[in-house]
Amino acid sequence: MNVIDVRGLTHQFNRNSGGGRAPAILAIKGLSFSVMEGEFVAVVGPSGCGKSTLLRILSGLIHPTEGEVFIKGQKLADSNPIAYMPQRDLLLPWLNVQKNATLGARLSGVSKAEIQSKLPHLFRQFGLDGFQESWPSQLSGGMRQRLALLRTFLMPRDVILLDEPFGSLDAITRRDMQNWLQGVLDSDQRSVLLVTHDVDEALMLADRVLVMTNRPGKILKEVRVEFPRPRYTQTLTLPKFTELKELLLQSLAEA
Ligand SMILES: Nc1ncnc2c1ncn2[C@@H]1O[C@H](COP(=O)(O)OP(=O)(O)OP(=O)(O)O)[C@@H](O)[C@H]1O
Ligand SMILES: [Mg+2]
Repeated sequence: MNVIDVRGLTHQFNRNSGGGRAPAILAIKGLSFSVMEGEFVAVVGPSGCGKSTLLRILSGLIHPTEGEVFIKGQKLADSNPIAYMPQRDLLLPWLNVQKNATLGARLSGVSKAEIQSKLPHLFRQFGLDGFQESWPSQLSGGMRQRLALLRTFLMPRDVILLDEPFGSLDAITRRDMQNWLQGVLDSDQRSVLLVTHDVDEALMLADRVLVMTNRPGKILKEVRVEFPRPRYTQTLTLPKFTELKELLLQSLAEA
């Protein structure tokens, strides 16, 4: 079964700046794809091609100009089974780590008791145990990203949208986080749509990689990734990995 079905999605931003009218921006045009239950799909594409716009539409934050989105067969409505981690981590500096982690789940109606029963395990799993009372400003970059992820995973949703979740991390921390995320998803069978600039990351994590064209973005190519899981650093050195990477880089160059 498909958890996400996107058909003919088009979005145009009409911008007004300081009295004069700036030209409208056609961000995405005629974009279609689907994600199956339990599938991990990565989206790569040039900067400004509409990746974040796509995730914002899927999360219900903005309404598309044209096209349809179905989540688990239902037309996208105000309440939908999607948890969204935006491109910037958006932690609230005046709330401690625990409150930052739980605010979204509380707002979406999860009971305090249910949250309390899950938190100790999640804090250990996300490597944040002992930091519940700290402030976001006292965390490292990797810890902030894990906290933003923990907050997303705590939402009672079947589909998770991640917009460059490791974007601001150095290469080594990034690799650690990718390995760790694979472990988390081992015991958590949710569907994931991940936006990334990093072709290696897409190939390490995804079952399928979608390449978007330059703005206005649509799907240019789809690549199936069939390495066994869990994938280790050695996966990066397989001839097949190099082959798929070249294919993706070539597609991006043509995007
Ligand atoms: N709120 C907005 N108002 C007007 N234009 C916008 C708005 N949000 C995005 N855009 C424009 O839409 C296009 C796509 O933006 P988007 O943020 O979706 O790109 P992206 O693929 O996520 O880029 P990046 O990889 O750099 O994050 C860009 O040209 C951007 O300027
Ligand atoms: Mg973006």
